[in-house]
Amino acid sequence: MCETKTIEATDDGMMEARDAAVALLQRGDIVALPTETVYGLAADAFNPAAVAKIFAAKERPEFDPLIVHIASFKDLKRVAVVPEEIQETVNQLARQFWPGPLTIILPKQPEVPDLVTGGLLTVAVRQSAHPLFRAINQALGNPIAAPSANRFGRISPTSAAAVMKELGGRIPLIIDAGACAEGLESTIIRIEARVGKKPLFYIHRAGPVTREQLQEFGKVEKVLPGEKLLAPGQLESHYAPRTPFRLIGRPEDFVPEEGKRYGLLSYTGEDGGEFVRRHGWEVVIALSPGSGKLAEAAIRLFYAMREMDEMELDEIIAEPVSETGLGVAIMDRLRRASAQRSLPKSTKKTGDPM
Ligand code: TXA
Ligand code: MG
Repeated sequence: MCETKTIEATDDGMMEARDAAVALLQRGDIVALPTETVYGLAADAFNPAAVAKIFAAKERPEFDPLIVHIASFKDLKRVAVVPEEIQETVNQLARQFWPGPLTIILPKQPEVPDLVTGGLLTVAVRQSAHPLFRAINQALGNPIAAPSANRFGRISPTSAAAVMKELGGRIPLIIDAGACAEGLESTIIRIEARVGKKPLFYIHRAGPVTREQLQEFGKVEKVLPGEKLLAPGQLESHYAPRTPFRLIGRPEDFVPEEGKRYGLLSYTGEDGGEFVRRHGWEVVIALSPGSGKLAEAAIRLFYAMREMDEMELDEIIAEPVSETGLGVAIMDRLRRASAQRSLPKSTKKTGDPM
């Protein structure tokens, strides 16, 4: 248990925020930082004792590896070994998507602590596009290990307030730079070279960089079920609200029970038609009110799930979104939240320190 400070990284507070974060990282402590995807819980990737604090604060099992963030492309070789046969592909992807929400799994350098990679021989690397995160990464001089700044298995935070609810009392500092621009965690891929053909990409986690965008650079394959262990954190039940959560396929799939209080996580809200207006929902939150835009839905998804989770509902019902482009990543998160119907009631209260 410790006091958790928040520094607002507004124009005036920017330098103060950067310096405070760097000072903590340098002395082997952890700090919650904004990225363009979600808030991350950061530590110096080359300091195993600091990285251990991440696992403790999140209650994350140590077999679940972390993403390593590099400040610039030239730092890639400090953490990863890029095999000759995929060198050109990695260069192309980095040129196109870095800094940004694409994480690439590569063979690791021996210097990367085992704790960071969960004992795997690979490391997941990306370069964040968030200006403040980049400035901190640069000033630290070392790569930053950072998972999403939530307790294990819970919804990733897209605001400093959400981080405070998740980790308040467990970490010394949160840098508040407002809402995250993407709202969903990075796309994670593994690359496999093929002789005389474009490489194969295996998507380990769908995210803001879409299958369609990746197709320009290689052939996109789904990860086979047997290969799930390659991304140990990709457990079926993840992103779980504490309230029972159910993704429905069609409106007919929902039959309300007498006396139960339901919330509807709708794609477009009222415009979604009959189903949205019927049923006496306790609350309806639209991910993209009106016309339905996937980018807006992505930004609002985790925020909306958190809002509803605090309303003491009996169940949250989620409508599907169209499964193209960013919709693939949104549906992935909705399915995972739905796979975990509820957590033990003992974890129900927010703000309990430990
Ligand atoms: O957008 C993001 O990726 C955010 C921000 C903070 O960068 N980070 C994030 O980290 O979502 P985390 O730890 O919540 O999710 C990382 C995922 C986990 O599912 C983990 O299992 C997987 O990446 N992962 C990490 N290293 C891996 C590796 N070497 N091989 C396969 N999967 C790996
Ligand atoms: Mg996470």
